[in-house]
Amino acid sequence: MRIIRTKNYQDMSQKAANVVFSTIILKPDCLLGLATGGTPVGMYQVLADRYVMGDLDFKSVKTVNLDEYVGLSEDHPQSYRYFMMENLFSKINIDRANTYLPNGLAEDSEAECENYEEVITKLGGVDLQVLGIGNNGHIGFNEPADVFDKQTHVVKLTENTRQANARFFDSIEQVPTDAITMGIKTIMKARAIILLASGEGKKEILKEALLGPITPKVPASVLQLHPNLIVVADEAALSLIPS
Ligand code: F6R
Repeated sequence: MRIIRTKNYQDMSQKAANVVFSTIILKPDCLLGLATGGTPVGMYQVLADRYVMGDLDFKSVKTVNLDEYVGLSEDHPQSYRYFMMENLFSKINIDRANTYLPNGLAEDSEAECENYEEVITKLGGVDLQVLGIGNNGHIGFNEPADVFDKQTHVVKLTENTRQANARFFDSIEQVPTDAITMGIKTIMKARAIILLASGEGKKEILKEALLGPITPKVPASVLQLHPNLIVVADEAALSLIPS
């Protein structure tokens, strides 16, 4: 595990963007695994800026997102497809056909999960997976559990996660109850993983995830077993982890 300690959120975003940048430079047709949430927004902005400056070309890049809410259409402002369009895809020259998210409106969600695994395999596997970490240690929507969920699956969101995400909706009632998420095994198959974290609010869970026991009660703790994990986090998030 490599830990890149940054001054603040902006610095984290710059350094994380540099890791994505080098992945694209080294492999212009790479498959990026992407995350939504507040943490990677700054990194996406830096990547979009580097595209505008002419430093980066996304024309052969492919992306698969970690997760999507069940029941929200692509044009729902809180769907993760919409988020990705707003924060990245509409700002760069990526081919929309090369961007994949689970279909939250699929009639058969289980079949959609299988289909998503096949998509990732057919695309050659994820070269770099971007992750944030939930307050309860979730990655993607893999919530604390008794066992590590493996493949892409449908998940019932915990109250903790629904409350954390309610800030993006008008009320908590509007937060979907289910989502489709890559599983832990799906995530761990990525050739490299970059975990982002920022702010005081993440310091306890980041310490548990990186230094605590590996347990499905803290899903992110499994990342300790990944051979190529890069943690890019700011001082506040890393304040309980000695440098
Ligand atoms: C997002 C995702 C989630 C978030 C996590 C942290 O696609 O899968 O696991 O990464 O909830 O969210 P933020 O960044 O909002 O703290």
